[in-house]
Amino acid sequence: MKYRNLGNSGLKVSEIGLGTNNFGTNAKFPFHMRAAEAATIIDAALDVGINMIDTANVYGTGKSEEYVGKALRGKRDKAIIATKVRGPMRDGPHGEGLSRKSIFHEIEASLKRLQTDYVDLYQLHWVDKETSIEETLRALDDLVKQGKVRYIGCSNYEAWRLCETVWTSKSLNLTSIVSTQPAYSLLDRDIEAEVMPFCEEYNIGIIPYYPLANGLLTGKYKRNQPPPKGSRLEAKSDPYENANFDVIESLEGFAVNSGHTILELAFAWLLSKVTVSSVIAGATKVEQIQSNAAATDWVLTTSELSEISELLGDGVSE
Ligand SMILES: NC(=O)c1ccc[n+]([C@@H]2O[C@H](COP(=O)([O-])OP(=O)(O)OC[C@H]3O[C@@H](n4cnc5c(N)ncnc54)[C@H](OP(=O)(O)O)[C@@H]3O)[C@@H](O)[C@H]2O)c1
Repeated sequence: MKYRNLGNSGLKVSEIGLGTNNFGTNAKFPFHMRAAEAATIIDAALDVGINMIDTANVYGTGKSEEYVGKALRGKRDKAIIATKVRGPMRDGPHGEGLSRKSIFHEIEASLKRLQTDYVDLYQLHWVDKETSIEETLRALDDLVKQGKVRYIGCSNYEAWRLCETVWTSKSLNLTSIVSTQPAYSLLDRDIEAEVMPFCEEYNIGIIPYYPLANGLLTGKYKRNQPPPKGSRLEAKSDPYENANFDVIESLEGFAVNSGHTILELAFAWLLSKVTVSSVIAGATKVEQIQSNAAATDWVLTTSELSEISELLGDGVSE
């Protein structure tokens, strides 16, 4: 496994990370993983050198953090725990959001579930339009000073909001964000317009989520064939609703001709971007973790990157 600095911080994160929003069954997601399965996945991740483990207070309404904490008992040092705050956790006006009151409550609850006294990366899950960014950053700065949080980051923030966040920290001399977590993959490139250039300029690490586009970039879903048994899309009523098989098949053809798989291409292409620090995919099987970790062996050349751009239709106006 190779490691990269998370943005302008000294924190070294594995190029492949582990997403855990499929940890913790509940009424809405009865097929999600239980504690023992989650522990097996975490152990497999640590075994291949993955240190970046991404969770959030809302995943499985706390269960994901609880399972991560349980699985990391006695192994805390091996992991970078990235969690998030913002989503609804309790009834009442402060049961969600990014106010000082909510953040101070939620960090304690997360630390308890995670069975640790610090979080490596505390991320603002999405924007809270009812709280000023100054209040949120002052609360996070206090948590950093108290040693409960080591680094801070955003998620799902537009470029102008990231800019506002960085400049508020700069002007008030508060701890600044080192990362942002947006959706990003070969099939979803919205962040390339504004978020990515901003992150490049300010050296903010990008942690792409949905890197495999719900599995469409794994090669296991085929045009006109039902999803394989037990796969994520099997549970959907219209599994290929958003699937562009023309693009998927051309990417797969390119990968195979290069002696690789589309899965390896999905990771290698994201990791060809200098601002990408760690690519977090969820996994339901140990073999998935192993093949995801192995994908980093493919470092794309300039000519391979231009071929991929052509396949993606870059530079072609409609
Ligand atoms: N910040 C945010 O707002 C936000 C939003 C969403 C997610 N996230 C984070 O991003 C993480 C990643 O999201 P995601 O898990 O939905 O990512 P994804 O890359 O879109 O999908 C991962 C899924 O693909 C399948 N898969 C993974 N590796 C595979 C392999 N080697 N071969 C075949 N299938 C494979 C698995 O599903 P099956 O085996 O079930 O098919 C796995 O759960 C989440 O866990 C969470 O931590 C953050």
